[in-house]
Amino acid sequence: MFDQVEKVHKELAQVLVANASELEAFRIRFISKKSVITGLFDAFKTVPNDQKKAFGEALNELKKEANTKFKSLAANLQSITTHPSEHPDVSLPSTPFQIGGLHPINIVKNRMIEIFERQGFNVSEGPEMEDDWHNFTALNFPNNHPAREMQDTYFLEKDPDRLLRTHTSTVQIRLMEHGKPPFRSIMPGRVYRNEAISARAHCFFHQVEGLYIDRNVGFKDLKQSIYHFSREFFGKDTQIRFRPSYFPFTEPSAEVDISCFICKGKGCKICKNSGWVEIGGSGMVDPNVLQNCRIDSKEFSGFAFGMGIERIAMLKYEIDDIRLFSENDVRFLRQFNGL
Ligand code: DAH
Repeated sequence: MFDQVEKVHKELAQVLVANASELEAFRIRFISKKSVITGLFDAFKTVPNDQKKAFGEALNELKKEANTKFKSLAANLQSITTHPSEHPDVSLPSTPFQIGGLHPINIVKNRMIEIFERQGFNVSEGPEMEDDWHNFTALNFPNNHPAREMQDTYFLEKDPDRLLRTHTSTVQIRLMEHGKPPFRSIMPGRVYRNEAISARAHCFFHQVEGLYIDRNVGFKDLKQSIYHFSREFFGKDTQIRFRPSYFPFTEPSAEVDISCFICKGKGCKICKNSGWVEIGGSGMVDPNVLQNCRIDSKEFSGFAFGMGIERIAMLKYEIDDIRLFSENDVRFLRQFNGL
């Protein structure tokens, strides 16, 4: 009987498993109710009384050994299957895996960058937490002027000079303060406004700011830049139109519209039957802004523009609710995979 135990012990020590079915064969042979070890337990009654104690101990030891070995073989197999690169089996079919996609905001942002980069613009960024100077004062918003209320602002409770930027125009100031003209830069980023959230408005969204400062930069250059962008982004037959407007930091200022690329100007729901849709604000940089950044406004001039990325994406993909961009619903996001 003790020989039998020794034989199983040796067999146990030598056995190796390479896959799940061999592991199962191990389980059946050494662990299951029909295992050799169970068989030996059954033979217990045939052992002479004076040997019963030693035999029982040896059997229990063997059973423990089998269980420990089973656990370690199973763990080993698991690590092989979860790290296939360490043990590649080239004969296996490849495992399908889901690749993520870019968020529509990033798709539009990247495309805008690409188009403006080809016009010689580089990309700049600035902080989302700003101060009054960069968000308002340097941009020619007079103190206590109602223009400051054009954009409802989140101020920091502890320090009313600190705020979440309401527009990316702040980055124009940072750029001009820290460098020397010429500047030709676009500035994408997130902005915040204290607005009630609805299908059309959100308390945070994204903008792309543009700034071009050099000698002899005129309104025609602004028009040309926007025209080129609009045709590249929305299609070759896109028309543009500038409507007089007001921004403290530009003079003159204009709102930019493009011809509705859905109905081709005939009138539809998107353009509210006007044939035109607004894509952003623009203008010639006010000389006061240049002076605030210690740039000689007699020598240099330039244009600026700002566009909402969500707005552009909503037009391009006919999305009717701005909240979709921040809800992270994969059924929405998945539609942009591969774009
Ligand atoms: N900062 C403006 C806004 O958030 C957009 C804007 C308008 C930016 C005119 C500009 C500009 O650079 O020239 O509403």
